[in-house]
Amino acid sequence: MQIKSATFVISNSDVKKCPNEPIPEYAFIGRSNVGKSSLINMLTERKHLAKTSGKPGKTQLINHFKINERWYLVDLPGYGYAKVSKKLKNTFQKFITQYFEHRQQLVSAFVLIDIRHEPQKIDMEFMQWLGENQIPFSIIFTKVDKLKPKAIERQVQQYLEVMTAEIWEEAPNCFVTSSSTGLGREEVLNYIDQINQEIK
Ligand code: GTP
Ligand code: MG
Repeated sequence: MQIKSATFVISNSDVKKCPNEPIPEYAFIGRSNVGKSSLINMLTERKHLAKTSGKPGKTQLINHFKINERWYLVDLPGYGYAKVSKKLKNTFQKFITQYFEHRQQLVSAFVLIDIRHEPQKIDMEFMQWLGENQIPFSIIFTKVDKLKPKAIERQVQQYLEVMTAEIWEEAPNCFVTSSSTGLGREEVLNYIDQINQEIK
């Protein structure tokens, strides 16, 4: 898929104030600093569309970016950046939960996981919560430029093994990406394009 246009539309913390056009949207979620905003820039080939930072906690609101005038990419704040670890509902800001619970236009979420890390409880809990709320999602492994091909394969395999051993009957759809090299760009965009065609 070609990205002909990518424009910032609105930021807010209230799901009721998100754009109300009935067009599909895809939301990027995951721990702070995992690379959500960088991935949006990589996919759209716009370096400064979404704001990124080396420090966790950069994205603080729900950000809508309109793509090709036909669908939205949504950048969300990260979770897991609380000094004291509390239950998911407490650490996770309420408006994000509300976004996922109430956003009719949301077609699928992408849960981003840093390829270098072992499975983390907060991500597992969050994916379980998505499942319980019947919100479709895929996993996007990020920062794969930091590992060698063999290690990438091993990490992905181990991750999916943990998921299927614990909660999930089937491993979710997953992508391997790097915002530094552009790896995975075509795959993620084609996946979105395919869904957009199906729901037309
Ligand atoms: P919050 O908005 O704070 O939740 O973070 P985020 O998930 O949006 O992360 P962001 O895109 O701001 O990136 C965090 C840091 O990781 C930045 O320093 C990025 O340059 C770096 N980063 C993101 N993606 C990649 C990647 O694919 N490879 C490498 N090497 N670094 C990356
Ligand atoms: Mg961000």
